[in-house]
Amino acid sequence: MRATILIVDDDRATTDNLGAVLGESGFHVIKAQDGVDAIARLDNEAVDVIVSDIKMGAVSGIDLLDHVIAHYADVPVILVTGFGTIESAVEAMRKGAFDYLPKPVNIDKLELLIEKAIKTQKLLNENVNLRRQLSEKYSFGNIIGRSRGIQQVFREIEQIARTNATVLIRGESGTGKELIAAALHYHSARSDNPFVKVNCVAFAEGLIESELFGHEKGAFTGAYKGRKGRMEMAHKGTLFLDEIGDLNLATQLKLLRVLQEREIERVGGNATIPVDIRLVAATNRNLEGNVSEGTFREELYYRIKVVTIEIPPLRERTEDIPLLVDHFIGTFNDDHGKSVRGVSQPALQRMVQYAWPGNVRELRNMVESLVVMAREPIITVDDLPPAILELRDEPLVNLKVGATIKDAEKQLILATLRMNNGNKARSARHLGIGKKTLYRKLKEYGMFENSNGANAPDELESTA
Ligand SMILES: Nc1ncnc2c1ncn2[C@@H]1O[C@H](COP(=O)(O)OP(=O)(O)OP(=O)(O)O)[C@@H](O)[C@H]1O
Ligand SMILES: [Mg+2]
Repeated sequence: MRATILIVDDDRATTDNLGAVLGESGFHVIKAQDGVDAIARLDNEAVDVIVSDIKMGAVSGIDLLDHVIAHYADVPVILVTGFGTIESAVEAMRKGAFDYLPKPVNIDKLELLIEKAIKTQKLLNENVNLRRQLSEKYSFGNIIGRSRGIQQVFREIEQIARTNATVLIRGESGTGKELIAAALHYHSARSDNPFVKVNCVAFAEGLIESELFGHEKGAFTGAYKGRKGRMEMAHKGTLFLDEIGDLNLATQLKLLRVLQEREIERVGGNATIPVDIRLVAATNRNLEGNVSEGTFREELYYRIKVVTIEIPPLRERTEDIPLLVDHFIGTFNDDHGKSVRGVSQPALQRMVQYAWPGNVRELRNMVESLVVMAREPIITVDDLPPAILELRDEPLVNLKVGATIKDAEKQLILATLRMNNGNKARSARHLGIGKKTLYRKLKEYGMFENSNGANAPDELESTA
């Protein structure tokens, strides 16, 4: 189906020219001579993209943008800036314009932008539809993700939730280990019984055993009363041992016995109490390393790793980021009575590029603060915290001893440019050299497209 483009400009020659070229490129074009006219056209026709001048009679391009954001939120707006309107354009980006182009309009750039706007909108619409079909393909209860890695995790949960197998969940901090442990429990036949969590890091050496196995009155100084341990509490349910790598060796041995004998003894007691628990353990450590160091028992390791669920770090499943952002915006709109509609395309791009060392937890926290602080319906790059705008997980430069300084320099320059999407001014800043120097080096290495050296440094400035 042909996409419909609404072109708005008070100059008829402009709308006619642009209209003719876009029409030739296969778009269906509608023209409006001012903002009022444009609003009327919008009410009567399904428009895919709006291309509007900023400076127009009573209703400016910015007013039109406001109207579109309020009433036709799914129609991207590309603004055309004439002399003296660049600042309004930047302001408009903040409000949620898709992008802007300077006059005179470079038609190739405009067509690229239109294609990009259509594509982006399609993706955002898909996201909206995805949210509607929640609990379907891209979510498993409250776990969201469309990446292969997460889809694999969903399948694994489905396969093993109903069994009694001990499960080891591995993943970096904030990847969703606890969420997945809970999903295993709530999709099992044990779901009506308790899901009991113990964080093994949180206990001092002596206390963890009493916490897990309980104790009898007088078992140690301060044990005035007998107490049920978490294992007893988890009877017929699921015990989630978080950070199992932090259990001390003595407790590991006791745990191993419980798993084998299916009974416990309270600290200071000698009666055996049968327990029926399903164990789910999590770690963000390298347990193999702990085994070879002798800080984790090999038998216990083999016992718990029978079924392992591996959650990839967020940076390795960037497809999940837009979906998660959307999901968290919904959650926090509800929580905080806000009505944020989404994140601008450039802002989303930054989020996708960021390395998320704190994984989904970091993303979730960031979205919460963005939603709480939001004053506009669309979150833009300006709203993002500095950490995201900085470089974190820089691509590596691969060098072997034997390479020359020149090779090294060339690789570093190329990698920096790639990371900055070809933006030379920013690359020069990251490299700690002047733009002119960067330009000279690019030329030296034959990496600069334009051999006309005389005015090239100016071009560097304008390469955005
Ligand atoms: N795929 C996901 N979909 C939705 N929310 C997620 C997802 N993954 C993680 N979260 C959310 O991110 C936060 C961190 O997840 P969780 O506490 O399960 O991580 P963790 O792996 O246990 O981290 P840690 O190792 O630091 O304990 C939680 O608020 C969780 O609900
Ligand atoms: Mg956790």
